[in-house]
Amino acid sequence: MISRWTVVADRDDLTKTEVLHDELPALADGEMLLRVSRVGLTANNVTYGVIGDMIGYWNFFPAGGPGQGVIPLWGLADVVESTVDALPAGTRVYGYLPMASHLVVRPRLTSAGFVDASDHRAELPAVYNSYLVTTQDPAYDERLEDLQVLYRPLFLTSFLLADRLVDNDFHGARTVVISSASSKTAFGTAQRLRGAGVRVVGLTSARNVEFTKGLGLYDTVLPYDASVDVEPSVYLDFSGSDEVRSALHDRLGSDLVKDISIGLTHQAASQDVRSEFFFAPDQLRKRTADWGSEGLAQRFGEAWRGFTAQAGEWVAVVQHSGPEELVGVWQAVLAGRAKPDSADVITF
Ligand SMILES: NC(=O)c1ccc[n+]([C@@H]2O[C@H](COP(=O)([O-])OP(=O)(O)OC[C@H]3O[C@@H](n4cnc5c(N)ncnc54)[C@H](OP(=O)(O)O)[C@@H]3O)[C@@H](O)[C@H]2O)c1
Repeated sequence: MISRWTVVADRDDLTKTEVLHDELPALADGEMLLRVSRVGLTANNVTYGVIGDMIGYWNFFPAGGPGQGVIPLWGLADVVESTVDALPAGTRVYGYLPMASHLVVRPRLTSAGFVDASDHRAELPAVYNSYLVTTQDPAYDERLEDLQVLYRPLFLTSFLLADRLVDNDFHGARTVVISSASSKTAFGTAQRLRGAGVRVVGLTSARNVEFTKGLGLYDTVLPYDASVDVEPSVYLDFSGSDEVRSALHDRLGSDLVKDISIGLTHQAASQDVRSEFFFAPDQLRKRTADWGSEGLAQRFGEAWRGFTAQAGEWVAVVQHSGPEELVGVWQAVLAGRAKPDSADVITF
């Protein structure tokens, strides 16, 4: 019998967590056991909890009692037991993982690795069910595992979001205003927009202005209470702040040609009719159809290499280990105490 730990959170109060312990039953035919190895934790994972019911994020890794759930993380895991010949013990994979030491999956093989075909995941967006075997992944580099678990899911969004804007000729705007500009997904987007012929303005908290300027990725960085120039602009909202949105609409009026909501670092899950939601898996499906899986992987791989060549300079990685430290990081990120110039990687 293998002992497992799992961190569950109250769905209605994400600050309330509990570490559960149980014994894993023997694997059924077709199943495989992953030992979670290394994960990143950022504001993005908080969003999974804040809108867990809306998108179904609580359904990936069911555990705990009524009203509890498991926050998903991106990271690396190792196969420790397998009934699938093509995926023997020792195989290392990258994908969507629980706040738990172990995960039982039911692999259906793909060219890049496998999809977890477990019944409870069947209705969930495919991108979250895919696992890449590191030895088959052209973007994998053993020396960059920390950057991979932290940035890869975020940078894929940055890549697809910037691509969508270029694809639509910025909806006629020549300025892109980005909130929560100090967040990794936001500054990854700014990095992708450099040289694209638009002015990129970052809005951030007063305490994060210096860090955000220091990235050198925005043409202008302003605190939230400053006024932007009145010119045709697209708004990329990573904050979810009603206040910031309303101030921009009031100031720019019809010069605000597009308002796109990507995140909610401020943790308010309200939807505004003036804003359209960007769901990265939708653009991923479109570009997979346009370019094919390999064409997309090649384009993303090139962008990813350019990004990781610099990302280590922008943010220092802080290492943690085990369930107690994981909970400590969760509480700090949830409370907004995490600093933008450091990022947390946890080994299980
Ligand atoms: N739609 C999608 O497909 C998709 C994909 C990836 C990420 N996202 C979203 O993008 C957002 C950024 O994620 P990330 O992982 O890149 O973030 P991150 O790097 O962890 O962001 C940290 C920044 O977020 C703001 N922040 C964090 N906690 C806060 C709090 N409690 N109250 C107020 N502000 C807080 C602060 O920025 P400022 O001071 O600059 O505001 C902080 O510097 C998330 O909401 C995430 O869900 C969406």
